[in-house]
Amino acid sequence: MENNIVIISNKLSLKKAINSIEHSDFNIALLIDEENKYYSQISIYKLRRLILSGSDINSTLNELVPNDKVFVFENNLKNQKKLDELIKYFELQNIEYIPILNDKKEIIDIYHINDSKKNISIMPNEHKQNNNVKNVLVIGGAGYLGNVVVRKILDSGRFVRVLDNFIYGNQALRDLEKNPNIEIINGDFRNIETVVSCLKDIDAVILLAAVVGDPASKARPIQTIETNLIAAQSLAFACKTQCISRLIYASTCSVYGKGNKFLNENSPLNPVSLYARTKIASEKSILNMANYNFAPTILRMSTLYGYSKRMRFDLVVNTMTMKAFTDNKIQVFGGEQWRPLLHVDDAADVYLKCIEAPLNTVGNQIFNVGSEKQNYQIKDIAKIISNTLKNITIETLKSDIDNRNYQVSFQKIKNILNFEPRNNIKTACKEIFNVLNEKIIKNPKAKIYYNHYFDSTEEIL
Ligand SMILES: NC(=O)c1ccc[n+]([C@@H]2O[C@H](COP(=O)([O-])OP(=O)(O)OC[C@H]3O[C@@H](n4cnc5c(N)ncnc54)[C@H](O)[C@@H]3O)[C@@H](O)[C@H]2O)c1
Repeated sequence: MENNIVIISNKLSLKKAINSIEHSDFNIALLIDEENKYYSQISIYKLRRLILSGSDINSTLNELVPNDKVFVFENNLKNQKKLDELIKYFELQNIEYIPILNDKKEIIDIYHINDSKKNISIMPNEHKQNNNVKNVLVIGGAGYLGNVVVRKILDSGRFVRVLDNFIYGNQALRDLEKNPNIEIINGDFRNIETVVSCLKDIDAVILLAAVVGDPASKARPIQTIETNLIAAQSLAFACKTQCISRLIYASTCSVYGKGNKFLNENSPLNPVSLYARTKIASEKSILNMANYNFAPTILRMSTLYGYSKRMRFDLVVNTMTMKAFTDNKIQVFGGEQWRPLLHVDDAADVYLKCIEAPLNTVGNQIFNVGSEKQNYQIKDIAKIISNTLKNITIETLKSDIDNRNYQVSFQKIKNILNFEPRNNIKTACKEIFNVLNEKIIKNPKAKIYYNHYFDSTEEIL
């Protein structure tokens, strides 16, 4: 049994019981009778209250605490409907730890009510499930990924509210300003008052806003912690209290950091930057808030590439393509590192899929987002771009500047959301090359295209 919880006899005296629980790391004890049958559970606070209300400290627990009336048996785990009823009961009773019993009523496992790793369902009831999402709040909707997500949701016929403080300007959304189905709010989601007002009438929230990337978070560590960690948690809490069950949180495969195995959602995390550490901490705290009002989804995305109206030239494929255009040469630093890649348009599709999927398939879940066909070594990305754009030389430099190294499994998202990307590096690098060639972007070296400068000065086009 994984959970280190105190199990004590219901024949213990009140005094001894308090003593045993106080010496454990937990506040809760499960009580069993002399035949090892589960009897009930009690918290240290309830036991103390018994003393305050005049109970004799030498009375035994079975004299003071009634036998539980509702139990979860092993076979209940197979019946989703029955399980949902039981979970609702435990939620209402404020019971956090659920003992799972065999047919002799012995405890064979303990689930935490919020434990997303177990197969126990803590889904909202029909009313709260809200499988009909009409109004979506996209925080960070003016960003590289954000503006693509916003367009997909608008195209699906939904209303979108964007909250963004336009660190990199608002040019990506300018053509949408007159669309009656979008409301664009210039505000900072570190401000809780702004967040709460933006949640009005919203059915689902997508959180993309962050200080994004290792260099940017290194340049502004305090802003990174405020945004990626504190504000993300406050937002999740605000969603939960307003019964907005769907929060889709943009995380990153960077959480795997330095790992050489094939990594799935349960693999150990080994972050190598503040950026990745703040993402991990938020993932954990957001998932821990799950209850029947709140069923968040965590999307650990591959490194994105491709053209977007808020362009970033600080992402590996985009940088290499830009260098191929400006210098006829691609520089590779190291090159042996593995990295999963995904086109920004394919990533945006996943957000729409998450909004449209029944909540019980995506709620309380972590998904790696990408495709196993697009796990590349950096040196091979350079080769593909150089071969596609022709006459581009590759210069390889010894370096350990970026030592992230991970190959990722995307089986879960393929199986559950039937996700398979439609784009690839070849077509994306051609598209970016054309954008530069046709002077849609004139100066790809301008600071606005690099997150770590935090510069919103737009190019005059
Ligand atoms: N681009 C990638 O390769 C990649 C990979 C994995 C995960 N992600 C995640 O996807 C999300 C979006 O990334 P992106 O590449 O679009 O980055 P981006 O920097 O282009 O977009 C972030 C947006 O959030 C806004 N923002 C930042 N702080 C804010 C605040 N306090 N209040 C309101 N708005 C704020 C910015 O103005 C910007 O428009 C991020 O959470 C990132 O961690 C991105």
